Amino acid sequence: MRRIFIANWKMQLSHDEAISLAKEMAKKFGKGLPDRDIVVAPDQTAICEVGKALKGTEIMLGAQDSFWEEKGAFTGEVSPAELRNLGCLYVIVGHSERRQKLGETDEVVAKKLRAVLKDGMTPILCVGETQAERDAGETEKILERELTSALSGVKLGNTELVIAYEPIWAIGTGNAAEPKDVRAEHGLIRKTTEEILGGDAEKVRIIYGGSVSGANMKEFLAEPDVSGALVGGASLKADEFLKIIKS
Ligand code: PGA
Repeated sequence: MRRIFIANWKMQLSHDEAISLAKEMAKKFGKGLPDRDIVVAPDQTAICEVGKALKGTEIMLGAQDSFWEEKGAFTGEVSPAELRNLGCLYVIVGHSERRQKLGETDEVVAKKLRAVLKDGMTPILCVGETQAERDAGETEKILERELTSALSGVKLGNTELVIAYEPIWAIGTGNAAEPKDVRAEHGLIRKTTEEILGGDAEKVRIIYGGSVSGANMKEFLAEPDVSGALVGGASLKADEFLKIIKS
């Protein structure tokens, strides 16, 4: 499957830093790379200006989150339609930082995923277990629960879906998962997704996230059914992110 590399800038950059990083990326790999999709997801306030900096390049725009309603009295929220208007093609849904630190439930994640699809954007659904859950042998149960809740009844139609396997203990720790574990969990995600989505599962790309770097990306891509990465820290440097994309 065509590979995809997504930069998740989180809340790490000032407005000016986000714009200048986008410009640097546009200059260094705005022409794109063969057989690779490249997506940058800045924070909500920078989407507009980063979109301008990436205009005319092969780098696509993404968002880190979206609300599920189209319009109304929802203080602080941003609708999927607005993100689409700003040029977003991808939206991260259910990142573990939102699930854990902002109390986002499986139910909320499911609503957001449907709203993103309805507006014709591609959700990047994040799933993954904590260290305690892994130690207790619950990884499979957690992944199945998160996938079932998010995807039951979903029809992809003309839209696509990316699922990011992001073990929570590997995020931002420098302690990436072992490629053999990624192989096992991606296999489970593929099987579960096929059970839930049937034929639509063919359109699903599964990527890995959690302390990905220019040094370790290659090992993950050597595993079956790893179609790219969701990258946090290492996407804040244009050269390091390029190294990952080129892996
Ligand atoms: P990291 O973050 O690459 O800094 O571990 C990944 C993520 O949270 O998506």
